[in-house]
Amino acid sequence: MGRVIAITSGKGGTGKTTTAAAVASCLAALGHRTLAVDCDAGLRNLDVSLGMSEFIVADISDVADARLSLGEAAREHPGIPNLFFLSAPAGRAPSELGADAMARLFDEARESYEYVLADSPAGLGTGFNLASASADSAIVVSMGDKASVRGAAKTADTLRAMGTPDTRLLINRLDGGSARRLGVTADDIIDLAGARLIGIVRESRDVQDAVTAETPLVLFARGGAARDFLDVARRLRGEEIPI
Ligand SMILES: Nc1ncnc2c1ncn2[C@@H]1O[C@H](COP(=O)(O)OP(=O)(O)O)[C@@H](O)[C@H]1O
Ligand SMILES: [Mg+2]
Repeated sequence: MGRVIAITSGKGGTGKTTTAAAVASCLAALGHRTLAVDCDAGLRNLDVSLGMSEFIVADISDVADARLSLGEAAREHPGIPNLFFLSAPAGRAPSELGADAMARLFDEARESYEYVLADSPAGLGTGFNLASASADSAIVVSMGDKASVRGAAKTADTLRAMGTPDTRLLINRLDGGSARRLGVTADDIIDLAGARLIGIVRESRDVQDAVTAETPLVLFARGGAARDFLDVARRLRGEEIPI
């Protein structure tokens, strides 16, 4: 039985899509059959981070409306075996999809994939609810700044109230310089957000360069952020890797 992990945050631009793409790629590269689902109908950019923009033929709504099975709608990545992608619906509000349809889609996904990573929109609106309501766990992505940490804390609280069993915090784009200027440490951020840490990802130029090259980060680089995301994936599958 597969596990659905919602990638969320309070504030926009913290790196949810980057995380969803990178962690899904790493889990697949580690040999797990993995599905990355774009639940951010507003922005729809998970395909870009996966380097799969040219491969979109179907989306969530095709499965929700039973035009296609999940197996027919999801596309396998051309460069990473075991990695599959399902796009967000174009020009359709997430609210039109409905929580029941999303829950059914995730149920179907649990049957065929070991991991399902759902890239969510920022904030606590409908898209967040759609992805999080029927997820088995969540990763809240925060950067080191106050607004982002506050958003993460609110999101973690909301997930707890919704009964999402396991919420983990990922601190993204941490670089020693800016953290020192802000006067915060990773420990401060964890305390403030009140969730267990799944990893710290460095600020790294590779992230943007990989997007420009339309190549998944794991295929683009080995060190820096790519290395940090690989560690996150390994912790998710139960390996003990010190942070
Ligand atoms: N670790 C990182 N190092 C450098 N840039 C990053 C990192 N993580 C994300 N970014 C950049 O930050 C921007 C926002 O990331 P994105 O994943 O789209 O955020 P979200 O999905 O939360 O809105 C993008 O331009 C992305 O390339
Ligand atoms: Mg995004």
